[in-house]
Amino acid sequence: MKKIALFVACTLLAGPAFARGDAAAGQEKSKACAACHGADGNSPTSPDFPRLAGQHADYLFKALREYKAGTRKNPIMGGQVQNLSRKDLEDLAAYFASQKGQLAVIR
Ligand code: HEC
Repeated sequence: MKKIALFVACTLLAGPAFARGDAAAGQEKSKACAACHGADGNSPTSPDFPRLAGQHADYLFKALREYKAGTRKNPIMGGQVQNLSRKDLEDLAAYFASQKGQLAVIR
């Protein structure tokens, strides 16, 4: 019983696994991304632009961090994140993760 209480307390204290980013701030910053990824992260139906809506925040954050570090190389995305801070990347990841992903058929 003690163990269960401890587990519940820890879970409540820790909160969701990814709670760093501020989705509202991320929405403001996401305007620069909308042309390619769509305002809510549901990219126009082009396979060239990945859909960000509804992806896990930690997955998005990892991708952004890797573009910035240059370990994931893409000339377009590398340029997009170059001047963004770690906090910017966290906020952007939180925003796109909070959006509802839509399925689409790409023709
Ligand atoms: C000019 C078009 C363009 C703009 C603007 C743009 N992106 Fe991208 N983004 C791309 C392309 C193209 C890719 C795929 C690159 C690749 O293959 O690695 C991509 C990939 C990504 C990925 C990886 C997705 C995945 O599933 O692997 C993330 C995350 C991302 N963009 C976030 C952003 C954010 C956040 C912004 C705004 C700060 C932004 N992008 C602005 C074109 C763009």
